[in-house]
Formats: sequence, structure tokens, C-alpha cells
Amino acid sequence: MAKMAVIGTGYVGLVSGTCFAEVGNDVTCCDVDQTKISNLQRAIMPIYEPGLKELVQRNMECGTLRFTVEIGDAIKEADIVYIAVGTPMRSTGEADLTYVKQVAKTIGENLNGYKIIVTKSTVPVGTGKIIKKIIKEYSCLQVPFDIVSNPEFLREGAAIKETLQMERAVIGASSGHAFQIMSKLHEPFTSTIVKTTVETAELIKYAANAFLATKISFINDIANICERVGADVTKISEGIGLDSRIGKKFLQAGVGFGGSCFPKDTAALLHIATENGYDFKLMKAVMETNEAQRVQLVKKLEAELGSLKGKSISVLGLAFKPDTDDVRSSPALDIIPYLVSQGATVKAYDPIAINEAKKRLGYQCVYSENLYETLTDTDACLILTDWNQVKELDLIKTKSILTQPLIVDGRNLFSLEMMEELGYTYLSVGRPATNKIVDLTKAL
Ligand code: NAD
Ligand code: UGA
Repeated sequence: MAKMAVIGTGYVGLVSGTCFAEVGNDVTCCDVDQTKISNLQRAIMPIYEPGLKELVQRNMECGTLRFTVEIGDAIKEADIVYIAVGTPMRSTGEADLTYVKQVAKTIGENLNGYKIIVTKSTVPVGTGKIIKKIIKEYSCLQVPFDIVSNPEFLREGAAIKETLQMERAVIGASSGHAFQIMSKLHEPFTSTIVKTTVETAELIKYAANAFLATKISFINDIANICERVGADVTKISEGIGLDSRIGKKFLQAGVGFGGSCFPKDTAALLHIATENGYDFKLMKAVMETNEAQRVQLVKKLEAELGSLKGKSISVLGLAFKPDTDDVRSSPALDIIPYLVSQGATVKAYDPIAINEAKKRLGYQCVYSENLYETLTDTDACLILTDWNQVKELDLIKTKSILTQPLIVDGRNLFSLEMMEELGYTYLSVGRPATNKIVDLTKAL
């Protein structure tokens, strides 16, 4: 059993801290956000993540998991200290290390014996060295410590499962001793461990996210070609995905990737490349395709409706993907303000993310957790998140409450045959439109 302090109790710190406790470690999760910590002490979760609340409650009751703002005390008592604070994007695209550096200073000030300092935050290559320097600078006792990079690969919405049964752990360690302790710590989660240097581990994280983002932009580019030649991108994904060298996952064409990581991490990797004298053309193209994909969807809506002025649009989905309340870089945050700026009124549905969306969008639209209330009397429905509730939409009822049967689907949720038969004008991504009024290839 390891005594651990996890600094930063957000999506990553809270999930990984809780999972480390679940497999028998003694974990203190810390944060500077007093409200977040007070709520967690009463088992009130700051995020929506399936299965998280039960796991937190169970481990708090066992006494293996606790929450505090007394970060210094938690560091002093721990053998392993995890850094899991945010690394948001600066306007230049680079990762902002302000919070990581603050934590490094706090660790230095409280270093009272040998500890392993582990970075779980996604950080640029060389951050391990920066952390080491800061800790040394602020440490009075000058005791030895090791630096490790152990990047996080969890997906929101599936975070608990993907931590307890992770496909692999990447451990970039500055000493053999630290590597051994970190390998043992991961034994309950996986036997597949990639042993490497701190720098390589830091870059593995960006390479993983950038590769997945590249797959999505690639299939979205193919989808755009499909629309021009009358092919079906879903069949192309199936046709190429069955080749095990390509793989089926992350080939769903749609409105483009959002979330707290792909947009920021592609930009950060491009920044790292540029700073190091490399023109990473592929990454630029991936980002450009992604931005254009949101615009394409709105163009389809405008092509069918003409001017948006005075039109009422129902938007289904505020979260950047299902099973999370996270709206960071969600397509809805770009698309709703645009629709409103063009004179449309917007009614927005989401089962979980309304509170988070309201913090960003305010009262630009009417919100509802009721699908059919949202759809009623709107001139078009725009699907942005593939929630199960939306997949299971009663399309006959929906047709009767929309003012006209027009659905623009950024997630390819319904079969073309069914939509054709039901009489919908149905515009999806990379598939022929059904019952369309205008020639979309000319409109895009
Ligand atoms: P988050 O914004 O949800 O949480 C960060 C937390 O750190 C906040 O609660 C904040 O109050 C706290 N914090 C900030 N400064 C602090 C300090 N000095 N001391 C203590 N706490 C402090 O962020 P997140 O989504 O958990 O992401 C954290 C890191 O993990 C980022 O680098 C991100 O790129 C990476 N990551 C995130 C995911 C994900 O799915 N969200 C997955 C893999 C990796
Ligand atoms: C992603 C990675 O999948 C995680 O491995 C990584 O740890 C995490 O980023 C991170 O670094 O934060 P996440 O952002 O939670 O996880 O969500 P994903 O399931 O990867 O989806 C990201 C975006 O891509 C979503 O907007 C989703 O709708 C979109 N997507 C995904 C597609 O458009 N098509 C696909 O085929 C798959």
C-alpha cells in the first residue's frame, strides 16, 4: 500500500485518486478550490462521471480516501505525490504551466523526505525538468526525490472503467527505483507497462491524442468528399475499419472533435513542433478540418432554411460527447451563438450538461431536459451530441411537433432509408441527403 497525495481534484485527479484508493492505497486528494473540497467531503461530486460517486463514497467510508485543502500536510505525509492540475491552452496554442509550477513550488516547500513526484497532467516535453528545478529551489532540506511522468489516457464518460482496466500504463522515470515502485502501483490496473524516459512519456501523451484527432479529421475529410460524390462515409469507416491495421475506433464522421483535450493538445503539439523548428503540416490540417466541420453543419442548415432570421432551431446536445457534463470546446458553444447572431431563436436540450452550458452561454437560448418540449414548434432540429436519449428519439412524434420535418444531424444517428420513408429532409455527415430541397454540393 502506498501513501499518496493527488494534487488537483478535477476529472483526472478525482478519478485516478479514487481508483488508486479502490485498489488499496491510502489517498489524499487536494485542491485549492475550497467549495469543491467541502462538497467532496460530503460526497457531492463536482462532475458527472458514471460510477464515480459510489466509488468515492465507498472509499471514504473505508477511510482510504479523503479530501483536503491542506496541500502541504498531504504532501508531507505522502510517499508518492501526483500532479493532476489543469494545463489550459494559451492564446498561442502552448500549454499554460502556471498551475503545474505552483504545485511544484508547494511540493518543494513541503518536501520532508524522499518522495516520487509524478506528473499526470498533460505537459510539454521538458516539464519534468522544470518541476525538478522548482522543487529544488524551494526545498530547504534538499532531500532526494525522483521525477516521473505517468500520463493519463482516460476518456470522460468511461473514466472509471478505463482506469481500473487500463490498456497500458506509460511510466517515464528518472530512476530504476522510481520505475519499480510505479510499476507495482499499477499492477492492479494492467500488466502492460511502457518503460521510458520522462521526456518520451511526456511526448507519448501528445502523440496519442494527436493521432486520435488525426483519425477523426481524416474521416471527416473523407465524409466531405462523400457528400460531393454521393458515397456513404459510414460504409467507408466499416470498410476500412475492418482492416486490423487501421482499426474501427475513432472513425465516426461528424461535427468534429471537442472536449477539454483534443483541441488543446493538438494546438500544444503544433506549438512544441514549431518551437523546435519543425513545420508540422499534418497537425495544422487536422485542426483546420476540425474547425471547418462545425461550419459545414451550419451551412447545411442555412442552405435548407435560407436566412436564419426569425427561425426557431432546436439543438440536441450541449456536452461535447455523451455521458459527461463537460462542455469545454463543445460544438454547441460555437454553433448556438452563431445561430443567435443570425437572428434565430434557439431551444437547447441536454440531459446532464445544462448547468455547465449556462455558465458559458448564459441566457442566449432556452434550456430543457425534455427532448420533446425542446423540439416543439421549431423549424429545424440540429443534433450535436450522440446521447442515447437522442438516438432513441420517437421520429414519428418528432415529425408531428416540428413545424417542418427537417433534421440536420452532426452525429449520423439515423438510417437514411428510415428517414426517407418518414418523409424527413435529413442532412447528415458524409451521406446522401434525403428529401432535400436544395442541391447541397452547390451550397457547401
Ligand atoms: P480540471 O480543470 O477538471 O481540474 C484541475 C483541478 O486542479 C481543479 O479542480 C483546480 O482547482 C485544481 N488546481 C489548480 N491549481 C491548483 C493548485 N495550485 N493546487 C491544487 N489544485 C489546483 O482538469 P482535468 O480535466 O482533470 O485535467 C487535468 C490535466 O489532465 C490536464 O493537463 C489535462 O490535459 C489532463 N487530462 C485530462 C483528461 C480529461 O479527460 N479531462 C484526460 C487525460 C489527461
Ligand atoms: C480523449 C482521449 O480519447 C483520451 O484517451 C484522453 O485521455 C483524453 O482525450 C484527454 O487527454 O483528455 P475525451 O476527450 O474524454 O478523451 O473524449 P473522446 O471519446 O476521445 O472524444 C473526443 C472528441 O472526439 C469528442 O468530441 C467526440 O465526439 C469526438 N469523436 C470521437 C468523433 O468525432 N469521432 C470519433 O470517432 C470519436
